[in-house]
Amino acid sequence: MSTLLYIPVSARGAESHSRRAGADFLARLQGAMPGMRVITRDLGGDPLPHPDQIFVHAMLTPAEARNDAHHGALVMSEQLIGELEAADAVVIATPVHNFTVPSALKSWIDHVVRINRTFRSTPTGKIGLLKDRPLRVIAASGGRFGDDATAQRDFFEPYLRYLFSTVGIADIDMLRMELLTRGAEPLAAAYEKADAWMAAEVEKLTATLAPA
Ligand SMILES: Cc1cc2nc3c(=O)[nH]c(=O)nc-3n(C[C@H](O)[C@H](O)[C@H](O)COP(=O)(O)O)c2cc1C
Repeated sequence: MSTLLYIPVSARGAESHSRRAGADFLARLQGAMPGMRVITRDLGGDPLPHPDQIFVHAMLTPAEARNDAHHGALVMSEQLIGELEAADAVVIATPVHNFTVPSALKSWIDHVVRINRTFRSTPTGKIGLLKDRPLRVIAASGGRFGDDATAQRDFFEPYLRYLFSTVGIADIDMLRMELLTRGAEPLAAAYEKADAWMAAEVEKLTATLAPA
């Protein structure tokens, strides 16, 4: 039985496009793999704290030298890393905020991407300590991203790809739902694109996670 970690990020509840698409994708995956276990970490509904002083001390103190306060400060981080380690696949459904990830997702990242826990730093670069697994990202944005003059510059996708490869996760596909605040036509086109993407991904993930 495989385990999926599902991470919705938007704070907009039922109004959220990324949540709507994420819930649709999750339902399709559960339909294709009925025994699948789902861990939900709702960052929009139940936001995480930002790193504070004791957390930073704790994460930078070698494990064997940590005191009780350090261990206490890392409990949430350990829980979140445990959820990620337990997952055979991960789905993040998130808005794009100010050209990159929303702060709710950045807090999760700061708890999970930890030196000497999920990556090591060496003279020749960082080495990821997590095993690779499929990560699928559904990203909703009001506008459009690209290289042409009228598009926004994208710090979302390159950032997430670089970040996750740092901890060892490179099997990444992203659905970009764009122009969601520009009227009915682009909105319908974004959901049409999402429908095709989800159908293809469900097939690929089912073949990987629950081979016949
Ligand atoms: C704080 C904030 C920042 C945003 N920044 C961007 C942005 O940089 N580019 C963009 O295209 N849309 C931006 N938007 C619009 C959202 O990406 C858009 O409303 C999207 O649908 C949000 O996802 P959701 O529907 O899942 O909540 C921003 C919205 C908010 C609230």
